[in-house]
Order: sequence, then C-alpha cells, then structure tokens
Amino acid sequence: MEKEMIIVLDFGGQNNQLIARKIREQNVYCEVLPYYTDLDRIKGLAPKGIIFTGGQDSVHDPDAPKCDSGIFSLGIPILGIGYGCQWMTHSLGGKVSKAPVKEHGKTELRVNNASKLFHNVSENTICWMSNTDYIETPASGFTIIASSDSCPVAAIEDKTRDFYGLLFHPEIVHTEEGTKILHNFLYEICQCSGDWKMASFNEHMIESLRNKIGDKKVLCALSGGVDSSVAAVMVSKAVGKQLTCIFVDHGLLRKNEGDEVEEIFTTQFDVNFIRVNAQQRFYDKLAGVTEPEQKRKIIGEEFIRVFEEEAKKIGTVDYLVQGTIYPDVIESGVGNSAVIKSHHNVGGLPDYVDFKEIIEPLRDLFKDEVRKSGLELGIPEKLVFRQPFPGPGLAIRIIGDITPEKVAILQDADYVYRDEIAKAGLDREIGQYFAVLTNLRSVGVTDDERTYDYTVALRAVTTTDFMTAEFAELPWDLLGKISSRIVNEVKHVNRVCYDITGKPPATIEWE
Ligand code: XMP
Repeated sequence: MEKEMIIVLDFGGQNNQLIARKIREQNVYCEVLPYYTDLDRIKGLAPKGIIFTGGQDSVHDPDAPKCDSGIFSLGIPILGIGYGCQWMTHSLGGKVSKAPVKEHGKTELRVNNASKLFHNVSENTICWMSNTDYIETPASGFTIIASSDSCPVAAIEDKTRDFYGLLFHPEIVHTEEGTKILHNFLYEICQCSGDWKMASFNEHMIESLRNKIGDKKVLCALSGGVDSSVAAVMVSKAVGKQLTCIFVDHGLLRKNEGDEVEEIFTTQFDVNFIRVNAQQRFYDKLAGVTEPEQKRKIIGEEFIRVFEEEAKKIGTVDYLVQGTIYPDVIESGVGNSAVIKSHHNVGGLPDYVDFKEIIEPLRDLFKDEVRKSGLELGIPEKLVFRQPFPGPGLAIRIIGDITPEKVAILQDADYVYRDEIAKAGLDREIGQYFAVLTNLRSVGVTDDERTYDYTVALRAVTTTDFMTAEFAELPWDLLGKISSRIVNEVKHVNRVCYDITGKPPATIEWE
C-alpha cells in the first residue's frame, strides 16, 4: 500500500523510538532509520518530512554522526531536534559552540507563534532542554523563533526551505505543548493527511495476507502473549482455517491462562487450534534443576521438541507466522540505542519447522499499536493488555527446583496479587507485576499452630523499556491487603515480602 511517511533519522538520541511513536499517535506513519542511511534510499521512500533526532555527541567531535548533506537539497521539510538542530546549523554554515553551563531541565520559552511550527502555541511555554552546545549564530536564511533567558537561540526556521530546528525536546512530556509542535510540523509544514489508522492498517494487512497466502497452509506458535495472538488473529481473518495455531501448555503458565487462551481461540476465531498439554513432560525434565539458565535451556529445547512433533503431524506448511514487532527490527543509528532482544519466547523455531517463508504481520507496529490493532480485531481486552510474561513462565519465578505443588502455590499467590492490583485500578499503570516463590521457608503461626512454610515475594516495577526499571510505590494499605489475602487463602505460604530494588542492580525477574 502507498502510504505517506515521515523519516526519523536517528543520530543516537535515547528518544528516537519515542519521537516515532508520538508521530504515529498523530496518525502519520514513520520509520526510524540510522543517520548514515543512503540518500537514494531516503529519496526512494519519498517522505513528506524528515526529523533529525537528538544525540549524545557535539558537532565538533571528530566521530560525531553526520548524514549525507545532499539531504538538504531534496526539497523535503526537515525538523532538527537537539543535536539534529545543531548538526543542521553546523553543516549549513552557522556557528555552534560549547555552552558555559549544561542546559538541562524545564525552561520557560518565549516563542514567536507567527511561525507555522508554533501555530496555536502559547507565547510563553514550558519546554524540556538538554544541551551541552548552543547555537551562537544560525545558518544563513534562518531566523530565531524561540528563546529562553539562558538560550537565546532555542528554535530556528528557514521558511523558504521549510527547515526547522528546536534545541528542546517536543517528544518529552515536560514540554507542555510538544505534541502541538509536532502536529504543526506534520500537518502545517509537511502537509500530511493523517492516513495512518489501525482500522485501515488491519484492513490492508488482512487483504495483503489473503493475496499472499492464497490457498496455502500457515502455522503459528501461539504463546498466549499479545504479539503472537494479534498476529494469529490477523492471519485467521485473512485465511481462516488454513491457519493452524499450536499452543504448547508447559504447565508454567499463570493460573487459568491455558484455559483462557483455548477459550478465546476456539470460540471467537475461525482457526484450527491445537492445545498440547505437555505439563508433565516439562515437569519431568525440570525435576531437581535449580540453575536458572539451565531451566531456560531445558524449557526452550523441550518447547521446540513438542512443537516439532505437532508440526510433523500437520506436514509441510507454506508459511510460519511470527509476532515480530517494530522495536525488534529497528536498525540502530549509533551504538546500542536500539534494544536487541536477548530472549524470544519461541526462539529458534524456524530451524525446526518445515516451511517456505516467515510471515510477520506486525513488523511495522509499536507495542501500543499492536494493542490497538488487537482491539480492532475483536480480541478481548484481557488478552490485549496482558503484561509481558517470560517464555519460561513461572519456572523463573520459582527459586530452586520446580514441582507441580510449588507451581500451584505460586499460581494462587500470583492470582490474588493480580486480582487486587486490578481492583485498585493499577493494572495498566504498572509495567510488570508478579509474585515470586522464594525458596525460603520460615516459622510462623496460624490458628495457634506452628507453621514452617514458604515466603512469597511481590515484585512490581515501572519501566518504559524493560532495560531499566524502578520498583513501583504501591500503597501500604494495598500491600497489606494483598499480604493478608495471600497468607489466608494460599496454603503453605506464611510470609510475604515486597521487593524494593530497581534494575539495575536487580533484574525484573528473580532468575
Ligand atoms: P529482566 O529479568 O531481564 O527482564 O530484567 C526484562 C524483561 O524480559 C522478560 N524476560 C524474559 N522473556 N524469556 C522471555 O521471553 C526469558 O527467558 C525472559 N527473562 C526475562 C521479563 O519478564 C521482563 O519483561
């Protein structure tokens, strides 16, 4: 499908994906490309506008990232942010110098709202700055359109060429009118029409899957997570029963989860759904194993074995569906600004299944877009907003060896925890929360009887990228309620602790 797009050229800033998401939220499709992307490739994509992101470097560093200066002759509007603005100034002949003090944090700005970029923005507005360099003299053709007390050149424009630059960050929530500024760039300057909507994305994707797949057979490893579920439903809407979903229940899912996934896929969607109840196989393999990486390895290998056996029964298929999403495939601009996923739920499957091609219907979508797409497709909210769940499941939340009894204890404790978090209306605010069954047993007293039972640890974190995280500050009374419900309702638990460690130094999971 021909779609209008914006290119976000990544100069190594931490916010490249955030900028892209902010643009897509305004119904304009965009892609993040590294700063060194070939000019011909950029031309070929025919973007309506280009955004240079911020970056860590100074334009004077010998290794500072630079893009092909031919980009200024394409006749395409450009918005430079932070480093992107400094680099544009520097390469078009302006002067960028080191600031005497680093400018960082909230700043009050005076803007000239006669500029298209600041259309409808208040004359005095708060923005978020983060600069070590400043613009001493803008390049020829540019005028100053915003300034602050300590930053005389906070925004610039060259109206004739449609080049704009900001020394503050419109994508950050502390820039109060940042969304409006990005909107102005997209709609007032680049003349976008705003054709990026999830409903039409779904429609087009289903149509193109139908054309591509024809009457061929498709296989999907369903984990019950958001991505594989949305991908599967998308394919099922395209080709119905030509799709077979294999759902391996390894016995390490959360309470009732296996049944819920089965219910949704057998009653609401038109697919061949195979649930493999392989619980005992996994428990047997895991018996006595305590080392976390060893657990992961066993589960990963056994998963492939089970899947392979089922896939063999079906015979050769033409396509294998995978729930890859956009953050997994973004090419990194500088260093490791893009996150490389180190663990995949169904990693390695392609090597074991007899198929011709992989289909990745969600390859262009951010997580929040996958969720929107899933809701549009009629997948229940409960599944669409499911929090991330590791492939090895509860195995890495049970410290020490795994037994079916311990799995049952943890499932019950985790269920109570999730129930109370949902009742408190916090389920969408916390990045991830779950219970851990520690291997610690301690003395307690219940009904005048001495007990010697397990300690459950509760974990809740807020995070944007899961690479770093803070522990969530849950209200004491809520923690108290969860604790008393767990010790009262879950057998063999007599103590509850709350984990107040960030990542780093801890990880989110306990193993
Ligand atoms: P950590 O514990 O590394 O977790 O801070 C970061 C995120 O990754 C998830 N996670 C996993 N996901 N297989 C997965 O599919 C795994 O082996 C695995 N280990 C951790 C974790 O739940 C969190 O969201």
